[in-house]
Amino acid sequence: MPDLALGPLLRHVGTRDATVWVETDEPCNVEVLGHRERTFTVEGHHYALVCVDGLASGELHPYTVRLDGRPVWPPPDYPFPAPAIRTLSRGGPFRVSFGSCRLALPHRPPYTLSKDRHPEGRELDALFTLARELIGRPRDEWPDLLLMLGDQVYVDEASPGVRERIRASRDVSEPPGLEVRSFEEYTWLYHESWGEPTIRWLFSTIPTAMVLDDHDMADDWNISRSWKEEMNRTQWWRERVIGGLMTYWIYQHIGNLAPTELERHEEYDAVRRASDGTGALREFVEWADLNGEGKVWSFKRDLGATRLVVVDDRTGRRLEEGHRSIFDDHEWDWILGATRGDFDHLLFATTDPVLLPPGLHHAEAWNEAVCDGALGSRAAALGEKLRRAADFDHWAAFQDSFERLERLLQEVGRGDWGRSPASIVLLSGDVHHAYLAEVAFRRREAVQSAVYQAVCSPFRNALARHERQMIRFATSRTGVAVGRGLARAVGARDPDLRWRLVEGPFFDNQVATITLDGRRARMRLEKTLADARSDQRRLETSFERLLA
Ligand SMILES: [Fe+2]
Repeated sequence: MPDLALGPLLRHVGTRDATVWVETDEPCNVEVLGHRERTFTVEGHHYALVCVDGLASGELHPYTVRLDGRPVWPPPDYPFPAPAIRTLSRGGPFRVSFGSCRLALPHRPPYTLSKDRHPEGRELDALFTLARELIGRPRDEWPDLLLMLGDQVYVDEASPGVRERIRASRDVSEPPGLEVRSFEEYTWLYHESWGEPTIRWLFSTIPTAMVLDDHDMADDWNISRSWKEEMNRTQWWRERVIGGLMTYWIYQHIGNLAPTELERHEEYDAVRRASDGTGALREFVEWADLNGEGKVWSFKRDLGATRLVVVDDRTGRRLEEGHRSIFDDHEWDWILGATRGDFDHLLFATTDPVLLPPGLHHAEAWNEAVCDGALGSRAAALGEKLRRAADFDHWAAFQDSFERLERLLQEVGRGDWGRSPASIVLLSGDVHHAYLAEVAFRRREAVQSAVYQAVCSPFRNALARHERQMIRFATSRTGVAVGRGLARAVGARDPDLRWRLVEGPFFDNQVATITLDGRRARMRLEKTLADARSDQRRLETSFERLLA
């Protein structure tokens, strides 16, 4: 008899439809609320994404999962609230919770200690704590969407359980050692990250959207051309990339899409219809990797009159010195199309912050110029080393892309492509700290929208003290002055827009929520706290602020 291996995950939810993702232990028919889907098979694993439609909007629809007619989820005596789909209402308000970077470690010491107290300590998981808190909060306060902005799984910091399985299955004295290498090993990461019972409940009831960042593939992934060439020379990299992108497509990507998009999705159709979809999916990801296609992973969603645009900023990079770019022309055209229209709010999500704390921005702009030879070839080689050591690979280190996005913000905020949104919020993760930056434009640009960069990271991967100090320095007046001086010395471009941190930086394990109500928007950041006496975890508000 077939059974669930992972899920159900509630993925896309609209006003009348939804998709529910499952992995099963053998091929079968999966049924949710009377809608049936046959599993597809890749590398001996079985999956289905069930599209449910005809639902009443703005209502709660409890559901069960049946495999070949037998109810398997929720199990008898399920200790959590019954899984349910809450369809979007037309008017809102809408809540989007977001963050990034979550290590799947056990919820006990030493893993719950700080990194300063134990090398494996990453404190308390904010997603786990959020799930616990939601169970006690009224349903009206639950998020309509959980947006996960990268490092959903860490290939280079697997949990003790996955490391044990890797050790038992191959020689770890050979590279990549204890890092994940293959499709099969990736499935272990996903099972460990999303199979934990409280997280599994959260994902069965709160819709999720997600995009990959570097650690889903490799630390420093696509940071520079020489990095890519080095990786391509190794024996194992090819298997990692193919396994990483194939599992990304299955576990993360297809659930980002609306049922109407899935209907005309060529690769999805080919994988679903094949008796074994391995070949079709492999062919697609090989093509996507070879062509550096970022557009295929980018997606958008509408929550009432709010448009969420999620841009892949890792896969489609151009890395040639002097011509670096975060996206290619296909992806840029897609971005232009996705940001046009009349919106109350535009949420523009990228894993890497577009607007870093200003001191860091200048340092990355300086580094790009140095790597491109502004101070000669010997300095360029040192610059490359620094680029990797300091992770100088955000938008500021891709000045051409930064400038294009800067112009787009001005145009959308001025109302060139539709009514000016009340707010434009850039949502990002990656940097393992959180902040809110407010953006100012030159008066002649006549920008109407309130524009912000909101960063929330990590869910669970808090920095050590010395790492926090470095970031605090970059946000200090001296740090900004030093960065600006360096950038000017090599002729790096001075940004057209200005921004300053109005909240933060915060260095906790944390989760942010943006609430959109008509033309109003509000942001709240919550951090995980533990009561040492009772071991009760809870969320505490770090700040709450009206954005528009
Ligand atoms: Fe991370």
